[in-house]
Amino acid sequence: MAKDELFQERVVRVEKPSAHFTLLRNTTGEFLGVSDTNELSVFDYVDDKAIWEKVEGSSAYRHVTTDLQLEAESTDAEDGCYLRHNGSLLGKDGNTANEGDIFSAGHGPGHLPSEYLESFWENGWVCLPSIIAPDTIEELERVSCTGRWEADTYERRIPPLNETAAVAKIITEPVSLWLMRQYMKTHEIRLGHSPGFAILSPDDGKRNVQGWHSDFPYLWGIAGSEAVNRIPVHKVDGLVMGVQRNLCVSEFRSENGATCFKLGSHTLGQGPPIEWVNGNTSRQEGYRETKGIPYSGPDADVIEAPPGSYIVYDSRIWHRAGVNRTEHKRAAMLQAVIPMFIMPFMDTSTPYKNFIHSPLVDELTELEQKELESVMVNKMVGPAGHLAITVDEELTEKIRPS
Ligand SMILES: [Fe+2]
Repeated sequence: MAKDELFQERVVRVEKPSAHFTLLRNTTGEFLGVSDTNELSVFDYVDDKAIWEKVEGSSAYRHVTTDLQLEAESTDAEDGCYLRHNGSLLGKDGNTANEGDIFSAGHGPGHLPSEYLESFWENGWVCLPSIIAPDTIEELERVSCTGRWEADTYERRIPPLNETAAVAKIITEPVSLWLMRQYMKTHEIRLGHSPGFAILSPDDGKRNVQGWHSDFPYLWGIAGSEAVNRIPVHKVDGLVMGVQRNLCVSEFRSENGATCFKLGSHTLGQGPPIEWVNGNTSRQEGYRETKGIPYSGPDADVIEAPPGSYIVYDSRIWHRAGVNRTEHKRAAMLQAVIPMFIMPFMDTSTPYKNFIHSPLVDELTELEQKELESVMVNKMVGPAGHLAITVDEELTEKIRPS
């Protein structure tokens, strides 16, 4: 690559929405919405049915797609309210009831879920700008030692899931879960590993820059050990074996090392071109010092997004980490998400078990606990019923190459 082509990627900027919709949750965390038959009801997922907007200058909420309005009435509960429809209190199931349930009004998406889905289908990626509430992002900055905590050093002692309930909150974020289930055409989706931080510190001009690759489970361009069989390079329309859901903990900008993509490459059925320098090549010792960085010219794209954004993309899309040309660390939280028929990348059962046996679990709603179990416990479902899968230490010892 010619020297003047360095860092010339096309910038795709996703702006922070001017306002966010509201999600109304009952005491078990289910989402209040309006059904296709125009009835108030609760749902265990969020699509357009569960999207509300605060009516300015009043205590009312308007259902965005039907215009139905609810009146909120304060309660003694912190962050909670009673809701009335045509004067009648709403119970836990969304129907009118003598005794009203306490609903909480929380941070929702900036746009309708159906708009995100359309864009995801069309492009193979979508960004949900600042979908995660600012207080959750601040907690993740604290744990990752970024933002105002950047003078501290992050030590990977235990999985972030077991350090703060904020990780389980972002795992169970409902709009991105709905989108991924739609895109992979199955309700049964799993995390391929417990979420980890990717913290990019200021570039020193010497260390290797990650090369171009597709993400787990494909890993085209970065296959690793020859002994591990990954998904063979192939062209198949309509079957998606993985989606990557990356959270921008910090704002993502071209200068601070936002991920570089070749948008649209998920349809090509092949890995990144050798000339772009893939992940297998760029990690060779001393590669950067002798040969420079992987392709960063105008045929690549950088997605810029505000803090708290989820960038969700088809795992086949070629991409690589950026180069942080600022003086500040930037953090992301990475999650490979797969349909249940793909073998996970790492064991999620131990961090999950540690989480449910810790006090952190009490910070989740019942629905969030159910979702966490659903995406973190791998199961065999067959004649013997439901069986949870975990790592067997004795057999692991036996099969390890000596
Ligand atoms: Fe990647």
